[in-house]
Amino acid sequence: MRSRMPFSVQGVSQSMTYRVRSAEQRRAEIQANAIAMGIDDAFISKLVETFYRRVRQHAKLGPIFHDAVEDWDEHLPKMKDFWSSVATSSGRYSGKPVPVHQKLSGVSEHDFSEWLDLFEQTLHDIAPSPDIVPYFLDRAKRIAESLKLAMFSLPKLREGPGA
Ligand code: HEM
Repeated sequence: MRSRMPFSVQGVSQSMTYRVRSAEQRRAEIQANAIAMGIDDAFISKLVETFYRRVRQHAKLGPIFHDAVEDWDEHLPKMKDFWSSVATSSGRYSGKPVPVHQKLSGVSEHDFSEWLDLFEQTLHDIAPSPDIVPYFLDRAKRIAESLKLAMFSLPKLREGPGA
């Protein structure tokens, strides 16, 4: 639907034409954009399988996952749903990553840099188009920042200045 709407910016009256998009239309655009870049279920599956194979072999990250993940046949499909939701707005993932990561022990902020480096390297190795690398990496970095905030900064704030 197209509408004309008057508005005022810093005292200057203007009018603009804007397009009101429903959530459905927005989702369709995100999906079309993802497909155009070559992001589909097959790519997401390969990304998750390749990345976690490397994670499990990683000197620091491997033991963390070894201790926490009981069933990889459950974890990998969950991570495919997660990335499908993040990258294509499919809505397949409905979990809560923050409390899951808050429960982990032995994770440092530096481990997140290692995680992101490995993720970036995996994307470079397997992405069918170069646009895919920043598309996934930007989203991973934003999520990593919010996980780090919840895991490292918020607990310190709660403890207060004298802690
Ligand atoms: C140092 C960095 C990280 C470590 C060590 C780590 C470790 C883990 C582990 C061990 C699990 C499984 C926990 C369990 O099954 O009980 C997990 C789950 C998960 N991780 Fe991470 N992670 C890291 C960073 C990230 C980042 C950057 C993202 C997103 C971009 C992410 C997304 C997820 C999601 C979605 C789950 C599933 C949560 C659920 O059960 O619903 N992780 N992570």
